[in-house]
Amino acid sequence: MMTILGFTAFAALFLAQQGLLGAASPTAPTSDAAAASELNTLATALGWKYFGSATDNPELTDTAYVAILSDNGMFGQITPGNSMKWDATEPERGTFTFSGGDAIASLAEGNGQLLRGHNCVWYNQLPSWVSSGGFDAATLTSIIQTHCSTVVGHYKGQIYSWDVVNEPFNDDGTWRTDVFFNTLGEDYVGIALEAASGADPAAKLYINEYNIESAGAKQTALLNLVQSLQSAGTPLDGIGFQCHFIVGEVPTDLQASLEKFTALGLEVAITELDIRMTLPSTDALLAQQKTDYESVIAACRAVSGCVGTTIWDYTDKYSWVPSTFSGQGAACPWDENLVTKPAFDGIVSALS
Ligand code: G3I
Repeated sequence: MMTILGFTAFAALFLAQQGLLGAASPTAPTSDAAAASELNTLATALGWKYFGSATDNPELTDTAYVAILSDNGMFGQITPGNSMKWDATEPERGTFTFSGGDAIASLAEGNGQLLRGHNCVWYNQLPSWVSSGGFDAATLTSIIQTHCSTVVGHYKGQIYSWDVVNEPFNDDGTWRTDVFFNTLGEDYVGIALEAASGADPAAKLYINEYNIESAGAKQTALLNLVQSLQSAGTPLDGIGFQCHFIVGEVPTDLQASLEKFTALGLEVAITELDIRMTLPSTDALLAQQKTDYESVIAACRAVSGCVGTTIWDYTDKYSWVPSTFSGQGAACPWDENLVTKPAFDGIVSALS
C-alpha cells in the first residue's frame, strides 16, 4: 500500500510537471517565475523550517490534489488531519493500528517533506474505552504512557514535531473537564510529555491550542502552564497556534502573542491556519481574506522563534469548515478546483 501511494504521488507529480494534469497545473512550477511563488521555497529562504499543509487519507486517491501536495517547493511539511489521533491509532486498549498514519508518513518521506505528528492526548476523537473506562489515576496514567510512547515511538525519527497535548483549556482559561483532567488534574500534561520525550527524544514536543492568538484568559492559562511545566523540568519545546480564523477578524496582537511564548524559550508555529467566511464568497471577501492571510504570515515572519506555518489543508475541496460551521467555508488558499485564490497571493506577498 505504501509503495502504491508513493508511486501514485510520484507519478502524479511527474504528470503535473509535464502539464499533463490539467487541474494541477495552476500551481505546478513551470518557470523561474512560478518557482518564485512556491510557498515552501519562499519560507525556507527566510529561515523558516517549512511551509506546510494538513492532509487526510481519503484525499490521497485524488491524483491532482496529491500532485500539488507533493510538490515540496510548495509544501515542505504535512500533517495528518486525523490518522494519528487516538481513535485511529488505539481504537481498543493495547491494539495499535498505524496504517493510515503510515501512509501519510510514507508520502512525506517520499516527497522529502517534514512531518508533524497530530496528536497524542485530546478529549476529541477519543475512543469510549478511554473516555468512559472509569479508570483510577494509576491506570489512566499507565494508559497515557503506553499510548504516547507507543505512537511516538512508532514514528521515531520520522517526525519533526508532535502535538503531544491538544486543546487542554476552555475559552475562559479553565481546564477542559475531560477524562484526563477529571482523573489526574493537570498532571496528565506532564505525563504525556514525559512519555513522548522518552519515545523520541529528537522530536519537538508541542502543546497545540486555539483561541490563544490574542491576549486573554485562555492565553494566560497556557502561559502559566508553560511556566509550571518548565519549573518542574518537564520536556516542552513548542506551542502550536492553530489559527482557525474568520475573515476580517485576525487578531491584531498575533505577533505579540507569539512573542510571549518565544520569550519563555519555546519555539512557536502556526499549525492549523484557515480563514473562513460566510458564503457565498464575494470579491470583497476574497480581498479581505488575502489581507488576512498576509497578516498571519507576516506575524510569524516577524517572530524569530516562529518556525513555520501549516494550513489546515490547502484546498476548499477538503476543508473541515463547511461541515462544522453551517453556511461558512471558502477558508483555504486554493479553491475547490485546486486553483489558487487571492489568499495565495497574500501568502506569497508576506513571504517575499
Ligand atoms: O471516521 C469516520 C468514518 O468512519 C465515518 O464514516 C465518517 C462519517 O461522517 O466520519 C468519520 O469521522 C470523521 C473524521 O473527521 C474522519 O474523517 C468525523 O465525522 C469528523 O468529525 C472528523 O472531523 C475532523 C475533526 O478534526 C474532528 O474534531 C476533521 O477532519 C479534522 O480536520 C479536524 O481537525 C481538528 C484538529 O484535529 C484539532 N484542531 C481543530 C481541527 C478542526 O476541527
